[in-house]
Parts: sequence; structure tokens; C-alpha cells
Amino acid sequence: MKLYERLLLENKAWAAEMVQEDPGFFDRLVHVQRPEILWIGCSDSRVPPNDITQTKPGEIFIHRNIANMVVHTDLNLLSVLQYAVEVLEVNHIIVCGHYGCGGVKAALTQHSYGIINKWLRSIKDVYRFHQAEVDGIESEELKLNRLIELNIEEQVLNLAKTSIVQRAWGQRKAPHLHGWVYDLKDGIIHPVSEIEACTRLEHDIYNFDNLNQIV
Ligand code: CO
Repeated sequence: MKLYERLLLENKAWAAEMVQEDPGFFDRLVHVQRPEILWIGCSDSRVPPNDITQTKPGEIFIHRNIANMVVHTDLNLLSVLQYAVEVLEVNHIIVCGHYGCGGVKAALTQHSYGIINKWLRSIKDVYRFHQAEVDGIESEELKLNRLIELNIEEQVLNLAKTSIVQRAWGQRKAPHLHGWVYDLKDGIIHPVSEIEACTRLEHDIYNFDNLNQIV
């Protein structure tokens, strides 16, 4: 059997299992989704959001890209963010990265990867912001893992800076922002950073005073 054929077969088995466990499962989800959480994670196949958090369909709205980045010119991310915050009204946004992230590792080199270079540039910026700290770590593995944590922290801050999040803070005092890192070695997630809704940011030029007029 070909791999893709196995996926279709497994899907049938999964659907049957879900109905057996909970006969109303699909009927409840067919018309509406009410996830409480937006998850922004790495595309890495070893970090599947629903599996590692034991959440079911309907519980998490998910966006994934290389190295879980929040780039302010990324229309895909912005569309997902706006829909999650303004239509679904999620109360929490989690940026979940992972140790050993290939995207962050690639950004630390001078190797050219083609079009991905443009994506990795934002990670190189995070390295530049924290170069003294990162260069002070001797072990290559620990250096990479620290940059991975700092990158998560920076992406959470990038979320806080968006007019979408700023407006929602003004209107409904949500969502809260969380930065997490997943450890591939033991499957455990560790919190890295957190920004409560309505926080005045350290560099408060990013906060807007006229929240109702933000477009
Ligand atoms: Co990754």
C-alpha cells in the first residue's frame, strides 16, 4: 500500500473511532467552530499542536510556518490573526517554538537557501538584537536553544505590536499572549514568555492611545 493510501485508510478508521466514542461529535462541529486559542507554531512535522496538547478538532485555530514567525508583512499570518481575534474572538494566542528548530539553526549560518533567505532574515534580526548574550554561550546546542527562546519571545512581542491585538485589547481586554517552547527530547512544553492583555509594552511607542480609531 502506498503511503498516501494508508493516510486515507487511517482517516476512515479515525472517523469511525470518533463516532464510536462520541456519536454527536461531527454533528456539533459541522456548523460552527469556537476555538479559545490561536496557535502559531513551527511547520516541523515533529511538533503537531493537537497531538502534543491532547486537543481535539475545534479546540485550537492553527497557523504554522518555518520557525513560528510573526512577520508584519505576512498577509497569511495577518489574515489568520485578524480572523482569530476579531471573528472567533480567541482569548489566548500561543506562539510555540521548539528546541532544535532547523529554521533558527539555518538563520545562524551564512549559507544561502534560496527564497527561504528572506524568511530567515527576521530570525537573523533577533540574533542581532541579542548578539552579546547568544555569543556568550559556548555550547553550540545551548546557543541555538537560547536563540530559539529569544525568537519566541520576539514573536510574542511582534503580536502585541499589531494593530489587530492592540485594538482587541482596547475593545475587550483580550487576547493574552503566550510564548512556549517544546522540547523534542521529552515532549514537554515550557513557558518562555507571557504578555497579559492591555500591557504597556517596554517600548511603549508600540502602544496606541486612540484604540478605537486603529485601522
Ligand atoms: Co522548527
